[in-house]
Amino acid sequence: MYTLAFETSCDETSVAVLKNDTVLSNIILSQYFHSKFGGVVPEIASREHLKSIVEITEKALSDSGITKNDINLIAATSKPGLIGALLIGLNFAKSLAVSLKVPFVPVNHIQAHIYSSFIQKDKFDFPFISLIVSGGHTLLILVEDFFKHKLLGTTVDDAAGEAFDKVAKMLGLGYPGGPIIDELAKKGNLDFHKFPLSHIKDKPFYFSFSGIKTSVLYFLKEINYEVNKSEKLTFDICASFQKAIIESLFFKTRNAAEQLEIKNISVSGGVSANSALKEKFNELIKKEYKIYIPEINYTTDNAGMVGITGYYKYMKSEDKMFFDDSSINIKAMPRINLNSI
Ligand code: KG4
Ligand code: ZN
Repeated sequence: MYTLAFETSCDETSVAVLKNDTVLSNIILSQYFHSKFGGVVPEIASREHLKSIVEITEKALSDSGITKNDINLIAATSKPGLIGALLIGLNFAKSLAVSLKVPFVPVNHIQAHIYSSFIQKDKFDFPFISLIVSGGHTLLILVEDFFKHKLLGTTVDDAAGEAFDKVAKMLGLGYPGGPIIDELAKKGNLDFHKFPLSHIKDKPFYFSFSGIKTSVLYFLKEINYEVNKSEKLTFDICASFQKAIIESLFFKTRNAAEQLEIKNISVSGGVSANSALKEKFNELIKKEYKIYIPEINYTTDNAGMVGITGYYKYMKSEDKMFFDDSSINIKAMPRINLNSI
């Protein structure tokens, strides 16, 4: 079974080809030029997806060694994301499905991050706790079985990746901030400064990252960073900020796992590429936990994760005819919405 998958929900144009649950090719074109605006500009993102989608599709097919006539299933991210950007991938995918006369599966981007942890892995066990940490989302989910998800917690304000991006901006480091802070933090002192993290009353598995961003801002003013900045100071701020974020993500996830007596944890989304975060979660392996973190190519947005999710969704569905319905369309949706998981 060959699946052709598309991801265009934000600033990555990505197309993948899978043979069953194995990724044969996963082409990702990142729109780095948004960095000069300090964040993604939705209209420009849509236009760029439109410009590159045909070429990326051809490259994904040629790298996989199959042709479009071999494709049995088409999947594309349908929500959540930037509406204009989603429309490009979704409509391209649906049209291709109609012309090739193959079923089309709409894929939820958050679900795609959940199942990205299992790409190129032999086997994984349910139930598991899934921590999804990206630029747009921070969610803690109990995954009881395929597509049986329960929300345990989410962020009440900024996403974890957003905090990395905003703090990097304050430090004048560029966008996206996560990978830059990750590198600089390696040379810094973790205990240089204690940046506080808020706790949400009666919601032990909810996150809040806007307070830490403000506390970094005040700290920079207090030490007159612009005047006193040095490489060492920047490394130390990155290290202590990153430590605070990781501790919040780690302890809430571990507490949820302990409370629910679950020994399988997956961490996915762009922030799961963070080297210190991986190290922290992998320490749990000594305590007999199974930790699933995707390989680096599948952490930030990619079509491989859309393909594996579409494939599982199709294989697990009882009525496969359902997927011939290509009337699926884009809907605007609030940021924290149980139905969006
Ligand atoms: O999953 P993703 O590509 O997009 C969304 O669905 O939002 O995640 C992008 C986010 C950005 O905020 C970026 O700064 C963060 O992931 N990120 C990292 C690292 N690599 C990417 N954060 C921390 N450490 C990293 N190594
Ligand atoms: Zn994402």
